[in-house]
Amino acid sequence: MPLISGNWKMNLSHAEAVQAVKKLGILLEGMKSELTKPEIRRLEAVEISIHPTFVALRSVQSVVEAESIPVMLGAQNCHWEDSGAFTGEVSPIMLSKLNVRYVIVGHSERRRIMGESDEMINTKLKAVFRCGMIPILCVGEDLDQRENNETESLLAYQVKAAVDGVSPDNLSKLVIAYEPVWAIGTGISATLDQAQQGCQAVHSLVGSSARVLYGGSVNADNASQLVRCDGIDGLLVGGASLNPDSFADIVKQSVIS
Ligand code: 13P
Repeated sequence: MPLISGNWKMNLSHAEAVQAVKKLGILLEGMKSELTKPEIRRLEAVEISIHPTFVALRSVQSVVEAESIPVMLGAQNCHWEDSGAFTGEVSPIMLSKLNVRYVIVGHSERRRIMGESDEMINTKLKAVFRCGMIPILCVGEDLDQRENNETESLLAYQVKAAVDGVSPDNLSKLVIAYEPVWAIGTGISATLDQAQQGCQAVHSLVGSSARVLYGGSVNADNASQLVRCDGIDGLLVGGASLNPDSFADIVKQSVIS
């Protein structure tokens, strides 16, 4: 089942987030009238997750549940401990109590700006599983690494470090997003070949049961081709997920024939 995830990053206040998810719900429902029966079946099989900021999670959860909007709740990060003296952090237990399903772990912005180490990412990933949720582990090379032909070795290093000590059962449930750093927020998506090669390289490390998403400048124009590539099991969308119209369009492009 493909997964299309919207990472809202540090955008949308709780009130704006509520408006956005309400509109997304209306668009997803309305879309059905434009789809054929097989397309509607595909739409119903797509899993959609949205990842608001921590301060918006509770409000978004209430609306999603009250209005039965067909999206899963996601978070962008968490700490690895259940509670304690960690000023400013949010624990995985707290997220699970809000019915969060997916937690992004090791996004390149957190690795680069917040200095998250591979060891921290490994500990967080295991904590997310321990609390009954599913991590979306982000990996990907920067431009220098790509130009030096280091993409595959970097992916192997990041994935192995992140999943160290994870049980085979959990490994099969894991979601990994291949997000080339140079494609994030730049408007320059990876080519289909580059995206597919990266996702297939990740699959070869974790097996075929884990789902591998592509992320990096995904929009309604490139979504349809990306999601049809062998080895790409879904999309992690940043900027284009903030606008419900464009995010719904990405979902639609992913299911139309
Ligand atoms: P953009 O879609 O804005 O390039 O962001 C991708 C991303 O970082 C999703 O996690």
